[in-house]
Amino acid sequence: MSNTDQIAYWNGQAGEKWVRHAERLDALLEPFANEILETVSLIEGEHVLDVGCGAGALTLKAAFCVGDKQGAVGVDVSQPLLSLAERRASERAAPASFEKADAASYRSERPVDALISRFGVMFFDDPVAAFANLRNSLRPEGRMTFACWQSLSENAWARAPLEAALPLLPEPPAQPPPGAPGPFAFADKDHVASILTDAGWKGVAIHPWLGRVTLPGDSVSDAAQFMMELGPVARLVSEAGADLSQVEDALTGTLATHTDQNGRITMPAAAWIVSATAS
Ligand SMILES: C[S@@+](CC[C@H](N)C(=O)[O-])C[C@H]1O[C@@H](n2cnc3c(N)ncnc32)[C@H](O)[C@@H]1O
Repeated sequence: MSNTDQIAYWNGQAGEKWVRHAERLDALLEPFANEILETVSLIEGEHVLDVGCGAGALTLKAAFCVGDKQGAVGVDVSQPLLSLAERRASERAAPASFEKADAASYRSERPVDALISRFGVMFFDDPVAAFANLRNSLRPEGRMTFACWQSLSENAWARAPLEAALPLLPEPPAQPPPGAPGPFAFADKDHVASILTDAGWKGVAIHPWLGRVTLPGDSVSDAAQFMMELGPVARLVSEAGADLSQVEDALTGTLATHTDQNGRITMPAAAWIVSATAS
């Protein structure tokens, strides 16, 4: 249960890039924060834990829902993202605090009423052990709601950069095994349900979120640059020795076909909204 690779990844360039683009990422992912909070229905005075909180956008929203009696705690392994989360909390005087910890072994000092996460729980080497551990921090009547991505094939916004790159690579990249830690590890909802059940969670309910996301940027080339920098495509292209600017041109062509009437790029996205109770 070491999670070493992901901890190094989120403390390296990935963490720095997420910090640099935090406002844009939060705008892209805001619909999911709203959906999580609507589903989990926080009550004033509850203690809430945001797992894999990143720069804390969801933690801060949750903190203002529960008020300052117990507040909200965000846990993450990424120092660059936690530093930004702490800065944001102090600027907004939010009743939120942040802890650097691996959620797979973290134990809350105070019993948790509600565990939430926006795309922060798909990175565990041993997800059953991690979710069993997280459950131990909840009150017996505690609950959990998180969002995770459906498959890459259902998420055109994430697939487009890879599709632009593939014809330009000397050979197709190796596919990670299904369920390997990463953004699409929980694409299979039956797999997610069995992880949670094996970890002792009850009443598992998984609902689809199907919609469109608006990519950051005021122009197609802005959106393409953003996708080139943040997706897995940048590493893929440089490792394979393909020409980055050719890939960006191809991606720009694809994204242009998704321009809405306001000139923004909106593309299909699909997530699971997963809920369960501790007992
Ligand atoms: C896709 S980002 C989502 C960040 C944030 N929840 C948001 O919506 O902006 C995934 C986050 O999970 C964190 N993470 C990955 N593995 C973790 C672990 N074992 N324990 C705690 N956080 C982890 C990463 O550092 C990163 O901040």
